[in-house]
Amino acid sequence: MDQIYLKAQEAANYIKSQVNQIPKIALSLGTGSSVLISSATIIKRIVYSDIPHFPTSRVQSHVNELIIAQIDSQKVIILGGRMHYYEGWSMKELCFPIRVLQALKVNVILFSNASGALNPNYSAGEIILVNDHINMLPDNPLRGINDDRLGLRFPDMSDSYSFKLRNKLKEQYPKIKEGVYVSFPGPNLETKAEYRMLHRIGGDLVGMSTVPEVIVAKHAGMDVMVLSIASNICYPPEQITETTLEEVIEVVNASGELLFEYVSFMVSAIEESPRI
Ligand code: HPA
Repeated sequence: MDQIYLKAQEAANYIKSQVNQIPKIALSLGTGSSVLISSATIIKRIVYSDIPHFPTSRVQSHVNELIIAQIDSQKVIILGGRMHYYEGWSMKELCFPIRVLQALKVNVILFSNASGALNPNYSAGEIILVNDHINMLPDNPLRGINDDRLGLRFPDMSDSYSFKLRNKLKEQYPKIKEGVYVSFPGPNLETKAEYRMLHRIGGDLVGMSTVPEVIVAKHAGMDVMVLSIASNICYPPEQITETTLEEVIEVVNASGELLFEYVSFMVSAIEESPRI
């Protein structure tokens, strides 16, 4: 994807033409997004295919709409659907929505996703606060000539999962567990040997998404938080059972209310102190 800066400006201009005031907080939702969306007050829905250059998720469990919504008294932009590397998108294509948020001057982004639990202390359905990642995808969205208007050539990743945002959530919910998310390409779920390897290299969760967008969001200077719903147990190997998408969706949906509670809390906390 060439000319990302200009294309993101065009997409952002279209969104601005549809919306009175652009919120500064974005939510990028993965599997199970519909529960969260149905709990928010919808102000405006824009289907992805109406936005210039915007990709459209081909995954049935995702909602292909950009939504302006209100959670408590705070307005947010919701990306209802996410693109994945395994769908065939290039890294730059699947991260384009984050570039559009950058063009809209969004400065905080909260992601949700579903993942497999590599940490034996997690249970199915538990929501984990991601505190770091290991990128095992075979490409990087920043590869190629750097456009300095978008960010630095060598962005620092030491606080990719904002320490301040995490602390805010932990003050309110001290029992929430934290962990490292490993991105693996998919679309097949991992073998037992792969789960064992990912556990050994320091992963607590494994999933097929989010890391490229987090890299781009950091490149764009945003504060990032990721909440991951551990949907299936992947370690130790004797506890692994066959997993289907339907089961993942069921477990994720059952955690939807708590996810909404966490997100609402964070949205209000950010509203009170915009650069926490
Ligand atoms: N592996 C990769 N992605 C996932 C998994 C998994 O076990 N569960 C939910 N998303």
